[in-house]
Amino acid sequence: MTDVTIPNDLESFWMPFTSNRQFKAAPRLLVAAKDMHYTAADGHQVLDGVAGLWCCNAGHGREKIVEAVQRQVAQLDFAPTFQMGHPKAFEAASRLAALLPGDIDRVFYTNSGSEAVDTALKIALAYHRARGEGTRTRLIGRERGYHGVGFGGISVGGIVTNRKWFGGLLTGVDHLPHTHNPARNAYSRGQPAWGAELADELERIVTLHDASNIAAVIVEPVSGSTGVLVPPKGYLKRLREICTKHGILLIFDEVISGFGRLGSSFAAEHFDVLPDLMTMAKGITNGVIPMGAVGVREPIYQAFMQGPENAMELFHGYTYSGHPIAAAASIATLDLYREEGLFERAAAMAPYFEDWAHALKGLPHVVDIRNIGLVAGIELAPRPGQPGARAYEALVKCFERGLLIRTTGDIIALSPPLIVERGQIDEIFGTLVKVLREIE
Ligand SMILES: Cc1ncc(COP(=O)(O)O)c(C=O)c1O
Repeated sequence: MTDVTIPNDLESFWMPFTSNRQFKAAPRLLVAAKDMHYTAADGHQVLDGVAGLWCCNAGHGREKIVEAVQRQVAQLDFAPTFQMGHPKAFEAASRLAALLPGDIDRVFYTNSGSEAVDTALKIALAYHRARGEGTRTRLIGRERGYHGVGFGGISVGGIVTNRKWFGGLLTGVDHLPHTHNPARNAYSRGQPAWGAELADELERIVTLHDASNIAAVIVEPVSGSTGVLVPPKGYLKRLREICTKHGILLIFDEVISGFGRLGSSFAAEHFDVLPDLMTMAKGITNGVIPMGAVGVREPIYQAFMQGPENAMELFHGYTYSGHPIAAAASIATLDLYREEGLFERAAAMAPYFEDWAHALKGLPHVVDIRNIGLVAGIELAPRPGQPGARAYEALVKCFERGLLIRTTGDIIALSPPLIVERGQIDEIFGTLVKVLREIE
């Protein structure tokens, strides 16, 4: 068993997105990880049904990445990328650009998905200004969108709790309606049939504000954090067409949907819709070192490369943009994805995963099941007056039985590492079946 020292004081760490008092009264501590499993502090093995937090697409403790990080930290621990550079950041960006679809050939590095979102929004605003269309400042998000926790991201995001707690947020933001319609689309396998016309709401917003005032639309191709919302057939293409027609930039937030999650490199490729900007994080380093990025289409980058050469073209950046250790981790991660054919593996495993997910139909409390690639959302009816309590109990019981799941409200999300085996898919869903039968 792993030799661990259990912390004797849990109080100082104010945990993110956690019920701190509830957690600290009955902590669930993870102390080691290898391939598909975590080891909990009491030594029990926990099958990872969610790739950590949608991050560890190649599984845990992968030697190639670990060694790359170890080598890098010993050789060059930090180097600035403001008016300086180091080779690994350039190499990582070239590798990533080669993987990105179409002419998304330029990469701006950040440290997280939230920063990638704020960066993409800023690039969109500055792009229009650089082209002499500085009136294009309005940003369009979507209800039930999650774009991280920066002020830009929560403003274009569509989560009521952010509005309730953090006030007015950015002005000049509108929202498209979300695409979730259980009355028409419950238990859809893959993309729901109904809902492409919801993209036409963008035309209504354009009519209201005039296109000359609108900078960009940002959506998650597949919403993850608000409960696995798969885009209706034709919806993203329609959004693309309307954006193109009106000169509005389309930003895909691929923080979750990228790096093989849907069985292709990115959702853009999966749905055959090319955005203008793409945000990424998580799987970019297999979750090993924090890193985010914005992929930018060539003409957008070129619009900035004007004027005197001694001028900074974009007044933006983070101390750790392109951090050497993150860059080394990313190079090793992208190599591993390719060498092991993990995106193709995810595509091959997806039908089996889908069949299992939909086999949960009819179990107690289950009101909808949604899936695409290696992602599934299982929605439970909430307990009257106690939203989220039922799914939380499922999370606790799954953990006790050796399975890590994720919950949002009363929706259970599953997104295992792409190395998952059939037997482990059986185990994930088998455990869930037992737990769903157990809980009240
Ligand atoms: C679509 C999307 N965008 C942005 C983020 C924020 O990423 P981070 O937590 O790395 O800031 C997330 C995180 O889950 C996400 O799912």
